Amino acid sequence: MGVIDDFSYIQRPKVPRLSSIPDDPLAAPKGRDDAPAGGLATPALRSALGRFATGVTIVTCVDAASGRRVGLTANSFSALSLEPPLVLWSLRRSSPSLAPFEAASHFAVNVLAETQVELSRRFARPPSDAPGFGKFDEGLWSAGLGGAPVLAGCAAVFECVRQAVHDGGDHRLFIGRVLRLADLAIAPLVFQGGHYHMLGEVL
Ligand SMILES: Cc1cc2nc3c(=O)[nH]c(=O)nc-3n(C[C@H](O)[C@H](O)[C@H](O)COP(=O)(O)O)c2cc1C
Repeated sequence: MGVIDDFSYIQRPKVPRLSSIPDDPLAAPKGRDDAPAGGLATPALRSALGRFATGVTIVTCVDAASGRRVGLTANSFSALSLEPPLVLWSLRRSSPSLAPFEAASHFAVNVLAETQVELSRRFARPPSDAPGFGKFDEGLWSAGLGGAPVLAGCAAVFECVRQAVHDGGDHRLFIGRVLRLADLAIAPLVFQGGHYHMLGEVL
C-alpha cells in the first residue's frame, strides 16, 4: 500500500511504538500510558491491534440538546448483519461526543476516500470553536436522515437509525440499522500501523 503520511516505511522503526505517533487512535491520554490491560501491557496491545488494516470513517449525528453537528474520526466501524442490515462502531467513554451520540436517534457513517485524509485528521481532534478549526469548517456537508451530517465525495455512506448501545470496557458500542446508503467507485482511505495509506494492488 502507498503511504500518504509523514513517515515512509524505510524511516519507520520495525516495531513502532504507536502511542508516540500523532495519528494513533488508541493513544492513551497523557500520563495514563503503560497501564496493564487485563495482564497485557497496553503498548503491546496497541501495537498488535494496529497491525489490523481498516478503512477510515467520520461518524456524525446532531446534538439533540443544542442542534449542533457532532462527528469524529472512527476506524472501529464494522459490518454486523445483512438481514437485518446492521453496522457497528465504538466510541471512547470519555469523549465529549458520547452524550450527543447516546441521545441521537440517527447517525451517519461516512467512509472516507483517499483524498479526504485531512478531514480525517480534523475530525480526530477535540471540538474547537476557533474560527477555521471547527470540525465542519471543511468539507461539503448536508443533513441526512435524522439530521446526521453526510459528507460529499465519500467512498460510501451508511445512514442509520440507532438500534442499540452496549457497554464495551472503556468504549460504548453503537449498533445502527442501515436505512439508506451511498456506494461510489472511489478509492477508500486506509489506516494501518498508525499511518494513513492508499489502497494497494489487487492480489
Ligand atoms: C484513524 C483513527 C481512528 C479512530 N477511531 C476511533 C474510534 O473508532 N472510536 C473512538 O472513540 N475514537 C477514535 N479515534 C479517536 C477520535 O477520532 C478522537 O479521539 C477525536 O478527538 C474524538 O472526537 P471528540 O473529541 O469530539 O470525541 C480515531 C482516531 C483516528 C486518527
